[in-house]
Amino acid sequence: MTVKYIYHGHMNSELRSSRYTVLIDPFFTDNPQAKINQNAVNPDFILVSHGHGDHVGDTIAIAERTGALVVANFEVANWLSAHGVKNVHAMHIGGAYTFPFGWVKLTIAHHGSSLPDGSYGGQPAGFLIKMEGTTIYYAGDTALTYDMVWLADENVDLAVLPIGDNFTMGPEDAVKAIKLIKPKLVVPTHYNTWPVIAQDPDRFKAMVEAETDATCRVMLAEDHFTL
Ligand code: NI
Ligand code: MN
Repeated sequence: MTVKYIYHGHMNSELRSSRYTVLIDPFFTDNPQAKINQNAVNPDFILVSHGHGDHVGDTIAIAERTGALVVANFEVANWLSAHGVKNVHAMHIGGAYTFPFGWVKLTIAHHGSSLPDGSYGGQPAGFLIKMEGTTIYYAGDTALTYDMVWLADENVDLAVLPIGDNFTMGPEDAVKAIKLIKPKLVVPTHYNTWPVIAQDPDRFKAMVEAETDATCRVMLAEDHFTL
């Protein structure tokens, strides 16, 4: 019972168990960091954290091709339905649900969530995921928030955090987040995609490993590891 984590660049992430493939924020087209095309992925489930284009990404095309069930907040789920996605599951902040691949709770994220056409996208979210005996926190786009302290109760194995600054928390605030969450492993994301979110991930890794008990894994698109 293991979970493989695959990084597709920016914040686009994939979790794979022996039976299920879950994509989170599948942004391939126009993602400067992407090394593969959206046609190369075959998810059973797609989780969408909020309405921004770099997170909704290729969700509609991938869902149409694969029939994947798309999980998102109520507003984003309705928008995806209206744009032709047949299988959606609407949730909202603080709510959890058990899917065939595992348990998912929508966590608080401080950010925006307007959809690519300007439609209202509700509140942005992160995901707390329990899958095959592992616990993963995918923060989504968010500021540092003290609510993250509750995640320390969850024994998070992997935290996928934004560090780009400007649109989300930057490296210093992400280190503070790790002190609240206390994950075993951290993957920094949402940086170096565009000049405005340029960061040095090795400097971040050094800060994390000096100031916290977490290990930091710097990844490039298509790098992967097994939890
Ligand atoms: Ni965003
Ligand atoms: Mn973003």
